[in-house]
Amino acid sequence: MKILTVAGTRPQLVKVAPVSRELRKHAKEILVNTGQHYDYNMAGIFFEELNIPKPDYDLGIGSASHGKQTGEMLKMIEEVILKENPNAVLVYGDTNSTLAGALAASKLHIPLIHIEAGLRSFNKNMPEEINRILTDHVSSLLFPPTETAAENLKQENITENVVKIGDVMYDAVLYNTAIAEEKYHLEEFGVREKEYILATIHRAENTDSKDKLTAIFQAFAKLDEKVLLPLHPRTKHKLQEYGMGNLLDGAANIRVIEPVSYLEMLLLEKKAKAIVTDSGGVQKEAYFAKVPCLTLRPETEWVETVDVGCNRLVDPLEEDLAAIIQEFQPADYSKQLYGDGKASEKISREIIKFFEKEAACVL
Ligand code: UD1
Ligand code: UDP
Repeated sequence: MKILTVAGTRPQLVKVAPVSRELRKHAKEILVNTGQHYDYNMAGIFFEELNIPKPDYDLGIGSASHGKQTGEMLKMIEEVILKENPNAVLVYGDTNSTLAGALAASKLHIPLIHIEAGLRSFNKNMPEEINRILTDHVSSLLFPPTETAAENLKQENITENVVKIGDVMYDAVLYNTAIAEEKYHLEEFGVREKEYILATIHRAENTDSKDKLTAIFQAFAKLDEKVLLPLHPRTKHKLQEYGMGNLLDGAANIRVIEPVSYLEMLLLEKKAKAIVTDSGGVQKEAYFAKVPCLTLRPETEWVETVDVGCNRLVDPLEEDLAAIIQEFQPADYSKQLYGDGKASEKISREIIKFFEKEAACVL
């Protein structure tokens, strides 16, 4: 059994690590790194820290407009699939790397496996929403992480070979938290436990609006606590473009740092007083760490964290973000919203089962 995995962004590398570890017990995995993320602190360090196997193919795609980036990946992934002739292609999440892998596989009639299927924001202005919908509709085997995601697929008449299994990011957190606490210490970041706010911002809907970014930074500047902001390169470029450096210079409590490694991030999340983010993965990690989360978006795909009262959506232009950060009290962390930490193991077994069933049908 040969599975060809396509990944290439930071959150995908976090997901590849636990799945790859399990999958390789049962199947031969060919890892294709698209190189959508390429800075050392957005990609290389994740391979190293998480012991992700060396990619069999490094496509080195890099940044470009959506069409160009996706198109170039599609062309190169097709060549790799033709050369490797895998039993299936495996993709994660909703990035342009996901869509390129999905299109390449489906055009060659190679079964497609989608991990993190069925998530919807119902906002088609997000490039990710288009990527998810298209990928789900050409997938042969789908792994929604939650009941809501499975229900979303049902609403779109995707009912065959849908297996709800939990979220592989929870597996990653369970596996790595103790390692993170052993390896890194808060003093290295100049902050003290439960006395700082951890923030990440990278979604186009925030970075592409100077008004929103200004409102977010003005709210941060009002806080008594330190705000630690590992800055995504997209946001860094936008701040430069908008000439917003002055705003940061004037706010002594905001500490902008380079993107941190996954293990550093787990430590920073766990010890934060609150987390402010527009990241999908970070919303879930805040829940796992039992840290209050404010999400700077009008909607979320991880609705369960909001439903249980541990995550709150905030519009920085309409609401007083600083006050909400001070006042928000999370409700209930008792529910296992994202499985039991064995999603990767179960997914690997389901993949093997699926192909045994297929083979039996052919005979
Ligand atoms: C992508 C995903 C998004 C995901 C995010 C995770 C798509 C459409 N978006 O967004 O769903 O949440 O990754 O972080 O696939 N850049 C660098 N160095 C890098 C990578 C990016 O400088 O290593 C800069 C470039 O200026 C680039 C910009 O960041 O143009 C955006 O990168 P890109 O991969 O296109 O999208 P992300 O915003 O990272
Ligand atoms: N992350 C990290 N370093 C950072 C910021 C995020 O390791 O400086 C991790 C984070 O812990 C999570 C993943 O990257 O596991 C989330 O990726 P990102 O926010 O880029 O994308 P999204 O989840 O929104 O697609």
